[in-house]
Amino acid sequence: MPTDIVMDAGTYKTVLYSGGKIVLEQPSAVSVDTDTYEPLAFGDKAKAMFGRTPPNITTVFPVERGVISDYQVAEAMIVHFIKSIFGNRIFKPRVIVVVPSYVTTVQHHSLANAVAAAGCRNISTIESSVASAVGLGIDFTKPHGSMIVDIGGGTTDIATLSLGGVVSNDTLRVGSIDFDDAIEKYVRREKNILIGGETAEHIKKTIGSAVKRDFSVTVTAKGRHLFSGLPETFEISSGEVYEAISDQLGLIKKSCQSVLEKSEPDVVADISHDGIYLLGGGARLYGMEKMLSDYLDVKVNFIDDPRRSALNGADKVLKNPKIVKNSDYQYRSIQNLIVNDVF
Ligand SMILES: Nc1ncnc2c1ncn2[C@@H]1O[C@H](COP(=O)(O)OP(=O)(O)OP(=O)(O)O)[C@@H](O)[C@H]1O
Ligand SMILES: [Mg+2]
Repeated sequence: MPTDIVMDAGTYKTVLYSGGKIVLEQPSAVSVDTDTYEPLAFGDKAKAMFGRTPPNITTVFPVERGVISDYQVAEAMIVHFIKSIFGNRIFKPRVIVVVPSYVTTVQHHSLANAVAAAGCRNISTIESSVASAVGLGIDFTKPHGSMIVDIGGGTTDIATLSLGGVVSNDTLRVGSIDFDDAIEKYVRREKNILIGGETAEHIKKTIGSAVKRDFSVTVTAKGRHLFSGLPETFEISSGEVYEAISDQLGLIKKSCQSVLEKSEPDVVADISHDGIYLLGGGARLYGMEKMLSDYLDVKVNFIDDPRRSALNGADKVLKNPKIVKNSDYQYRSIQNLIVNDVF
């Protein structure tokens, strides 16, 4: 029996899914030797080193806004992750790679090649909005519109689907990591304190919100004073965080609106009946559904485990490629590039 593997190499996290469960979930990070570019640590270990490394080590995030930005490091990371789970035990693994809907054919190939380097041979790619639709059980092969918004770490992928394909889409190069950056900048500007990415992320997850909270909440955090250079403890309120990230929230709202505006009236009518499906780690920010439903005047469906839908859907397609092959949607496989005896 061949092993089936679904891989989602995101800006923030790489996930491997096999046998109906997540078998690996690690930050998409690699620490490398600055002189030799030799990888030294991967995933959690590499992320923990970020911002704390001596000059001869640097932490690289090889997937930037959903696409591979450093091929050599990305390949080493993907090979390491696949081997760390499956070792050399895998027999003819079938791998499907979830990719953002805007990536070019060249980028599909580059991800598939990185997987091939791990010894996998039957490789295909699927756009994440299509995989999510399958995972959510949306029958998008019919002439009925649905809309998927995936707020990831580095991107917000917005797509409307009908008749088995993507009708319109937009990928905003803004994701939840940009909220962290905005919080870092705000604290530097307003409090003269420098904070690291982890602290900013912690503040976002604890008191961040996409709508104004009814009651203000605060969190205490630590940073380094800009002028004295000494450690400093400070308080920040939910109102301040909301203000810090409001520009990024505005961009997400406006992109969703423009995708709806570009869609046919009948598709919009279907979406307004069924509601928008909101996915991705960034969708878990407090009040995100409310912000979008208030702004767009369309119901927003909260997905309990937003990351799992795309993985589940991709797994279903891997097991039964006809789900997408029979529809008008042109399923992209890499037959020409890599020996592929499955699809
Ligand atoms: N409760 C939460 N509130 C706010 N943000 C959150 C929460 N939980 C996770 N996130 C954010 O979600 C982001 C990761 O989302 P996800 O796992 O969907 O990204 P990704 O798929 O790796 O990225 P991309 O799809 O852009 O390549 C991180 O920036 C993380 O801080
Ligand atoms: Mg993603």
